[in-house]
Amino acid sequence: MTTFPSFRTTVTTLLTGFAFPLFAAPATSAETDLAAKLPSVYARCFEQYRGLLKQMEAQKPEMQPKRWQDGKLVVIPPRDWCSGFFPGSLWYLYEKTGEAFWKDAATQYTDRLLEPLRHDASNHDVGFRTYCSAGNALRLTKDPKYAAFLHDTAAALRTRYDDEMGLICSWNNPKNLKGNGFFVPQYIVIIDNMMNLELLEWDAKNGGDPKSDLISRSQADLTDLHHFRPDGSAYHVLDYNRVTKKVHGIFAGQGACTEGTWSRGHSWAVYGFTMMYRETKNLKYLVRAMKCADYWMNEPNLPADGVAYWDFKAPRIPNEERDASAAAVTASALLELCQFAPTDKAAAYRAFGVKILSSLASDAYLAKTGENGNFLLMHCVGNKPGWYGNPKSGEVDVPLNYADYYFLEALGRFERLIK
Ligand code: GLY
Repeated sequence: MTTFPSFRTTVTTLLTGFAFPLFAAPATSAETDLAAKLPSVYARCFEQYRGLLKQMEAQKPEMQPKRWQDGKLVVIPPRDWCSGFFPGSLWYLYEKTGEAFWKDAATQYTDRLLEPLRHDASNHDVGFRTYCSAGNALRLTKDPKYAAFLHDTAAALRTRYDDEMGLICSWNNPKNLKGNGFFVPQYIVIIDNMMNLELLEWDAKNGGDPKSDLISRSQADLTDLHHFRPDGSAYHVLDYNRVTKKVHGIFAGQGACTEGTWSRGHSWAVYGFTMMYRETKNLKYLVRAMKCADYWMNEPNLPADGVAYWDFKAPRIPNEERDASAAAVTASALLELCQFAPTDKAAAYRAFGVKILSSLASDAYLAKTGENGNFLLMHCVGNKPGWYGNPKSGEVDVPLNYADYYFLEALGRFERLIK
């Protein structure tokens, strides 16, 4: 069916050079199929997370579930970068059902983070830990205790910002980074840091420190300038020289090699720049988000189901593990990006987001009830090279709590798109 541009679309095109979609496109057969599956997909999610909550009853009260590996539940303390995802997933399940059971569980798992994390700036993953948990709690309950907590955590994150560098420092004392290896790292910035900026944007807009917005824009601007190759793929780890303020080192980080493209790092870029466009309406961020999305969608090593290998340049493709977590992040990002992109691109982003989400919602990735340690998605890779070169710490082909979080978020975004 031909869709004619509305008066508002035409005006927007004249003003900005872009034609933005201002109405939902009709559902495709892929959307109709996914919509029809949603009740059974959610039924599995509810059962699985009821089971995970049951398992957690045996754990210490400050812990959160992170993954299932070698037949065991791996739990984490509040300072782990992944501590906010399980509470966030519980909030999404509450949002879907409105049931007190999920609200009580979400409250319990969020509230155990508040005091340990309120002033914690020991690493840069503040937004992951606090905005996914308390950000959703605030959105759904409006309880001011969560706003107070988020303002405090934004203040903690700001302490990692250096005015002269114009960047938040990601890692404190990195050792054994695999890279071009000519020098000791001075000021490490990783692509993942884009995901902490939503907290800062929220802080600046909700009575916090206006500097939060300046910091987040500066971080996004310098990331946009330095963190991408000409083909649109993202580097994971850059090192800046403290004197010249220029990038003087590139490290493989969680990717296969310096010039590899670690798929989850790239997914953080698609998501982070889409979010920064939503928050600032700076077209530069929209352009970057679209370049990142285009890279994912057109990368020759992307399998037909849209779920990437853990690194797009992993050495043994096609005999490499997929990373369903990167796919979940990208699906969620595309289902937001399609609402901002120019009309001619929007349909492609929406269709690709639906394609990835449909793959993840299939038996190939969505675990059967009672399996997978009660996590939702199978086949994720946390860090195949392993922390400090130790492959045993690598979390290869396992469920991970952040894959579940972005999967549930993407399901919710899909549902709102087709309403
Ligand atoms: N540090 C975030 C990640 O592993 O994706």
